[in-house]
Amino acid sequence: MLVLFVGLFGCACAAQSVFYDSFTGNTVTNDVVKGHIKQNTTFWCLNELLPCNPLEGRRVDGSCNNLKNPNRGSAHTPMLRLLPAEYDKDFEPRRSKNGTPLPLPRKLRTWFLPEGHVPDKAMSQLFLHFWVFIVADILSVHDTVNYIHWRPHCCQEKGKTDKGCIPIKIPDDDPVHRFSSIRCMNLTRPESFQSRGCLRNDTSPERITTATPILDLSHVYGNSMQVLNAKGRLFEKGLLKFEVAGGKIWPPSYKNNKHLCFLNQMPHETRCHDIPEFGGNSVLGVNLYLIWTWRLHNRIATELGKINPCWNDERIFFTTRDIVIAIIMQIYYYEMMPALMGYENLVADGVLSGYPGFRDIYDETILPQTTLEFPFALRWAHTVQEGNLKMYDIKGNFLKEMKVVNLTLRTGYLDDNLEYITHGSFRQPSAKFDYVVDPDVAETVLGPHQLAADVFSSDLTKNRYFGFPPYIKYRKYCSGKTYRTFDDLLDVIDPERVELVKERYKNIEDMDLMAGLWLEKYVPGGRTPYTFYCIVVDQMLRSVVSDRHWYERQNRPNAFTLEQLLEIRKASAAQMLCAVGDKVTKIQPHAFYLAGRGNEMRSCEKIDKINLWAWKDASCEPKNPFNFDFTSNI
Ligand SMILES: *[C@@H]1O[C@H](CO)[C@@H](O)[C@H](O)[C@H]1NC(C)=O
Ligand SMILES: *[C@@H]1O[C@H](CO)[C@@H](O)[C@H](O)[C@H]1NC(C)=O
Ligand SMILES: *[C@@H]1O[C@H](CO)[C@@H](O)[C@H](O)[C@H]1NC(C)=O
Ligand SMILES: *[C@@H]1O[C@H](CO)[C@@H](O)[C@H](O)[C@H]1NC(C)=O
Repeated sequence: MLVLFVGLFGCACAAQSVFYDSFTGNTVTNDVVKGHIKQNTTFWCLNELLPCNPLEGRRVDGSCNNLKNPNRGSAHTPMLRLLPAEYDKDFEPRRSKNGTPLPLPRKLRTWFLPEGHVPDKAMSQLFLHFWVFIVADILSVHDTVNYIHWRPHCCQEKGKTDKGCIPIKIPDDDPVHRFSSIRCMNLTRPESFQSRGCLRNDTSPERITTATPILDLSHVYGNSMQVLNAKGRLFEKGLLKFEVAGGKIWPPSYKNNKHLCFLNQMPHETRCHDIPEFGGNSVLGVNLYLIWTWRLHNRIATELGKINPCWNDERIFFTTRDIVIAIIMQIYYYEMMPALMGYENLVADGVLSGYPGFRDIYDETILPQTTLEFPFALRWAHTVQEGNLKMYDIKGNFLKEMKVVNLTLRTGYLDDNLEYITHGSFRQPSAKFDYVVDPDVAETVLGPHQLAADVFSSDLTKNRYFGFPPYIKYRKYCSGKTYRTFDDLLDVIDPERVELVKERYKNIEDMDLMAGLWLEKYVPGGRTPYTFYCIVVDQMLRSVVSDRHWYERQNRPNAFTLEQLLEIRKASAAQMLCAVGDKVTKIQPHAFYLAGRGNEMRSCEKIDKINLWAWKDASCEPKNPFNFDFTSNI
């Protein structure tokens, strides 16, 4: 068994790699490869892969997940559309039914989503931190970097002639900016196979991202073996590179000041993780979970090394990675999403298994892809994002607060405050699930990086540049019903909000998908809009069905045993913080919910743990046969 393992993970040997066109998924000739090298487009337009081996575990670059379509699952492969795109000429946003441009996004946003501060009664901040972490697994941040750094001129004269610029116009009667002179917010067109030179510009825009489309923690382990080996692996005992500072374990950090943590307050705040390829240093929630997941990996690797002293670095590393991916998926599918969408709903729709044992619904005819609508729908989360970050000490005393938006690209702030942020994350409520949005998220979402930035207006603008068809076509797709008049919307939108729609859109066909998500009522048993539910359920099922390496499968390379799977089932957000959160010794068992009746805080001792002895390899002689009974609970 050991020999097999090493062979499968370790050795690329003399195998010859093959080039695939990242968009079509077909192999390409040497001449095509040379052409891309000349134009410097190999990074985006080609995938270079070693031949697939059906017995190999999950590849870091996501390839060979589908054995018949080897490049699907890797970075820079196309997303799927639930419904065909609808654009105006030259792939500009579609127009309203009467031929005029659609209403200004900023105008719709301020009309539909008032600003205010309302804490939720049920959900914790931790819930939102985890949410953004999951999204970061399948998306990359280059669209934001684009208008902050690469094309900072979108609101200036130069922006008028740059096709990559799609600035947001602020109307003169804007409720906030009628008092300022700001009339424009920076924004760039989403990066596409076209903008990166992989497809002709006269074809329908296809979004491109640098993350792998499958849920594989590519933001923790990187999207290629080269990146993982260069930046992540320590090559000792299965560990990721780490450093210890202030008694805490951190991912490796830059040893100079040339980095992207622009908002670090120098000279005091110096920390900036040297792993930007992994999603490090970006928004706070991603940063937090990256640190915690990084620590979790090393903790599990260390235990596995003790239990199985004959395992080498390679085997410990990749077994640990498999366990860590499974733990995060277990928390995502069985803890986070039920809170959002309703457990009964998800079981009824086949997304969750009602039983703890294996389940196998793999279908090789479904490619490992993400729909374009899925990460877009998840942006609805901005409406429940809380702008103030509250910090607590380990006894639960409130210490201070800070603006979440000011912490993007400011990893240095965590040096002194990670512990307080951690203890605040499961004590502070998220923003209420309602139609009121946080003023910071609505006006200064990029903090000091921009004078003004309204994430909702950006979302709505992107809606149009992605070419999403009218909202009512999604309603039809989800419910089968045809919507002809505004009043037909009453089955999913409350009457007073249907009034708002009538006041802003001239025809029901004009209505944007995102506007529908903002205004809809929530599904019974859940706290998400109907169309959000429909789009997200599709992807959750798709992610399981299309992933040959899905952790609940019995028939996959290096599959868990039943005993191991049952240990994975014990994973929870609370236990993860008990294992790797700074000084967390007490927490509520359902940490995405606030503590309260039935969910009282309790000692970590009383929270279910994963017993790693399930991974004991009988062929390993323990170094000290008499010291067999140490516990290895995570
Ligand atoms: C080639 O492309 C890569 C990736 O897009 C980029 O980082 C690099 O600067 C480009 N090199 C040249 C010479 O344009
Ligand atoms: C399409 O246009 C962009 C500029 O908007 C350019 O960078 C890109 O190379 C073009 N693609 C092709 C295939 O011509
Ligand atoms: C957040 O950043 C803004 C600048 O955009 C600054 O004016 C403000 O004082 C900062 N707030 C906090 C709490 O750090
Ligand atoms: C747009 O970007 C420019 C250049 O970075 C900046 O000066 C300007 O303040 C930005 N506009 C807003 C509204 O933030």
